[in-house]
Amino acid sequence: MSKPLLQVIIASVRQGRVGKPVADYIVGAIENREKFAVEVIDLAEVNLPLMDEPNHPRLGRYTHDHTKAWSATISRGDAYLIVLPEYNFSFTGPLKNALDHLSKEWAGKPVALASYGGISGGLRAATALSPVLGALGLVTARAAIAIPWVRTHVEHEAFVGYEAIDASIDAVYAELVRLHDLLAGH
Ligand SMILES: Cc1cc2nc3c(=O)[nH]c(=O)nc-3n(C[C@H](O)[C@H](O)[C@H](O)COP(=O)(O)O)c2cc1C
Repeated sequence: MSKPLLQVIIASVRQGRVGKPVADYIVGAIENREKFAVEVIDLAEVNLPLMDEPNHPRLGRYTHDHTKAWSATISRGDAYLIVLPEYNFSFTGPLKNALDHLSKEWAGKPVALASYGGISGGLRAATALSPVLGALGLVTARAAIAIPWVRTHVEHEAFVGYEAIDASIDAVYAELVRLHDLLAGH
């Protein structure tokens, strides 16, 4: 039987972003584990325009090819790990836009957050995101990855992990496995 798919979503799209090295590090830590196959979803590559569908996404009546393609991408995911920076005490515009484009595709699936930033470790962004995930019917893991002073851990465009981060990656992975099995009725 094929493995369920964990999609790692990179929520920062700007040039020189730290989000890519952080996501690369997390993916490196989890991609060979037993439970999930892992796919990276880079919102910079997905490059959705601002939400421009005429119908509410819960109807699934998409008119644009970019939305149909985005729907197909997220539909094949069984769990999500969102890697997000904190911008002005909140999460990024591209992430909200990507979430808002769809509805049923997200519902009833587990999600965990890997946030980063300055002193807050992106926790204000993660907290602000919580009601949005709830509105979409996503089930958020209590375990989370939070990386304070993220830039001090990037060398030569690679994120250099440390014990506390590795421990939180383990905790997040274990909870995603548990939530996935619970929600899938296993
Ligand atoms: C527009 C903008 C707003 C930011 N606001 C915050 C903030 O509110 N809190 C924080 O801890 N860091 C903030 N930062 C610093 C970011 O955490 C840091 O630049 C990080 O590298 C951004 O992630 P990215 O490189 O993946 O885009 C902000 C950065 C940008 C570009």
